[in-house]
Order: sequence, then structure tokens, then C-alpha cells
Amino acid sequence: MSTTINVVELFAGVGGFRLGLERADKSVFKTVWANQWEPSRKSQHAFDCYTSHFSEGEQVNTDIALVPNTTFEALDIDLVVGGFPCQDYSVARSLSGEKGLQGKKGVLFWEIKRVLENSHPRFVLLENVDRLLKSPSKQRGRDFAVMLAVFRDLGYSVEWRVINAAEYGHAQRRRRVFIFAYKNELEYAKKQQALTHERLLFQEGFFASSFPVENEPFKKRYATTTLPLDVVAISDEFSFEFHTAGVMHKGEVTTTQPTAKEIAPTPLAAIIEPEVEETYYLTEAEDEKFTYLRGAKKIERISATGHKYIYAEGGMSPVDDLALPGRTMLTSEGSVNRSTHIIEVNGRKRYLTPLECERLNGFDDNWTEGMLPRMRYFCMGNALVVPLITTMGKKIKEINEQEPEQDLQITFHL
Ligand SMILES: C[S@@+](CC[C@H](N)C(=O)[O-])C[C@H]1O[C@@H](n2cnc3c(N)ncnc32)[C@H](O)[C@@H]1O
Repeated sequence: MSTTINVVELFAGVGGFRLGLERADKSVFKTVWANQWEPSRKSQHAFDCYTSHFSEGEQVNTDIALVPNTTFEALDIDLVVGGFPCQDYSVARSLSGEKGLQGKKGVLFWEIKRVLENSHPRFVLLENVDRLLKSPSKQRGRDFAVMLAVFRDLGYSVEWRVINAAEYGHAQRRRRVFIFAYKNELEYAKKQQALTHERLLFQEGFFASSFPVENEPFKKRYATTTLPLDVVAISDEFSFEFHTAGVMHKGEVTTTQPTAKEIAPTPLAAIIEPEVEETYYLTEAEDEKFTYLRGAKKIERISATGHKYIYAEGGMSPVDDLALPGRTMLTSEGSVNRSTHIIEVNGRKRYLTPLECERLNGFDDNWTEGMLPRMRYFCMGNALVVPLITTMGKKIKEINEQEPEQDLQITFHL
């Protein structure tokens, strides 16, 4: 059965998820509702870029927290996607009722929860920084455990995996955690549950079947746990070492650290423009500044409590190696910052151009054209490696095709 998959794209940025899914199959993935709002900015560059590329479906430029539940209730959707920040997911018991949860204000994961509670999609695909698995540092794993418990309570199973795009052939060593949740009533969920967790995590699961890994975990890292039933108890005292991949079904968690069966990465040399404008070359002063920023240093600093300490950082190579894929691009790319890429071409040092940054993420050339260069860098630092989403999209399409039509109607349109 080849059916349409109706998509809601949250925190849409310049549309990395949508582009990736449409490249997987434009006739199947239909983004019916998208939301993007850059807090405290008058100009909404990312949203403008999004609407310049996509016209179908409703596109909403407002704080997601202001969108009423009725909007989500009215949507008939199958898949929710979104990249969202790593924030504090701790919860308290809500004053209004024993069972209600009270998360911190402004935490975007609670908005995702609200969308799911009101629209019941079959599938959810999220992206976050890999730090999410370990946060906060004083109670490692708490935030991710809260998130998993929320999915458990909404009737989803979850698979997660940290993927380094360069290990699967792409031009950037960007490591991000991808989280795929699917409703427990699906035939797919039943098939997954029939597998051992080893088979699921190393061969046949959502991620392992599309991003191949070796059969053995790195350093034998493998652990299981059961999430407490009470989410407030998880928030107050639960701590666990989540590894880079795992699965959760009805609160039972198995986690491990697979090693990628690597595909040769795309080196920076393959994505750079042969000729660029003079403005991208470093001035003598910028060159000096970058040499200092990227060099090893020890600096005496004074802490907030007035205590003196030595801040030390190791040296980086003066320029990024063109034979390697790029490092992770941040929103500060293009500014005078230690993490900004500097390359040397024909004996001259220069920045990456915005177009080269689009290529690092696998967007179409000139995707963000029309914005100021500073904003183009910013939007690419926020975005994701699009071809990874295309691979995941193909897998979601395959899973969806195997679901019996009748069951879906009974389960989801009551
Ligand atoms: C990590 S980025 C996602 C980028 C996106 N995946 C892409 O391909 O460009 C998160 C996005 O969430 C947006 N955002 C932050 N707070 C928001 C809010 N309260 N409501 C709606 N969007 C928000 C930011 O402007 C940013 O573009």
C-alpha cells in the first residue's frame, strides 16, 4: 500500500526535514503544517527562506507555545518531525492535579508533547545534540529519561541513535542524536518487539537497517534499565548512562554503543567553490586573530566567586584539512570564532562561503540566497545534514507501506 504520509514540521528552520523527506518521495510526504519562529527577532529570515521554497500546506510564523490545541486536533497527521534544543526537562507535580506534570516554561519538548497529545501521529522523528543523552551533568541521563517516559505514557516505542554524518559518506563530522518514535499498535511495532534487542540495535531496527554498524558494541558497552512509572520520580532522582543507541518499549530500555560500518566521507576539497569573492579571504589582522584563537593557550581567569583559575585549551591545526570532511558547523560560523572553519586554497586562507556551508549540510546550492551572509551561516549552523533525513524518510515510507490500511483507520480515526 503506498499512501500519503501527512507531516507536521516543528521548529522548521529553513526546512531541512521537509527537503530531506521530499527528496525521499515527494508524492508520499506531504507537509500539511509547518511552524518556525525565531524568538526575539523582528526579521524572520529562516521562515522567509522556508516559504520561498515551499508553498503547499499551512506555514505558521508564531511562537509554537501560542498555537492552540485545537489547531493540532484539527490536523490529520501521520508524522511529526523537528529539531529542537537541549533544555532542562525536569518536571514537578502540577498543582492542579495529582497526575499532571509541570515542566519549565519555554522548554520546547513540552510543545512537542502537546502536539502529540492532540494529534496522535503514528510516527515521530526528532533531532537534537548528542549531549541530550547525558544531560544534566549533575544527574546524567535525567532529561532523556523524562523524554522516554513521556513517549512511553503516550503509547510509543522509541529508538534513538547518534549519527555522525561523515561516517555515512557526507561532508561534515556532525554528530546528532535522532529519535524515532512509533505507536505501539502498529504492525511495525509488533515486528520490532519480536526481535531481540541485539538484532534490533545491530541489524534490523529503524536505524541499523539504514545506517549499517558492526555486530559488536564499542568496548562492550551495553546496559538495560526500567524507567520508573512516575515521571516526577524520574525527574527527581533517576540517573542512567544512556549510550549512543538504544530502544525503549513500555519503559524497558536497552542501550549500547555501535560502531559505524563506515562509508568514505566527502572531503572538504569536494565541496569548495573554485573561485570566491575577495571578502572571504582573511585580512592580516584576521589571520593573526585566528592563529591566536586556534592556538594552545593558558589564561588566568577569575570565577564568579572571585577565585583565580587557569583556563587552558589545546591547539587546533591552523587551517581545516581539505582532505577531511568539515567539523560540526555552529551558528557562529562566519564570525571570528575558534570553531569557524578556515581553509587554505592556493596558499591563501579564507572562510567557507555560505554556499559551501549549504553543501556541508547537503542542501541545494543557494538554498538561503537572499539573506545577509551572517544569517545564512546562522541558519546552516542550526540546520541538519539533509541526506540523512532522506535515508530515514525512505525507511518510514517502507514501514508505512507495510501497515494494513484497515488497522490504521480503526486505530487512528476514532
Ligand atoms: C535547531 S533549529 C532547527 C533547524 C531545522 N531543522 C532546519 O533544517 O533548518 C530550531 C529552530 O526552532 C526555532 N524556534 C525556537 N524557538 C521557537 C518557538 N518558541 N516557536 C517556534 N520555533 C522556534 C528556531 O528559530 C530554529 O530555527
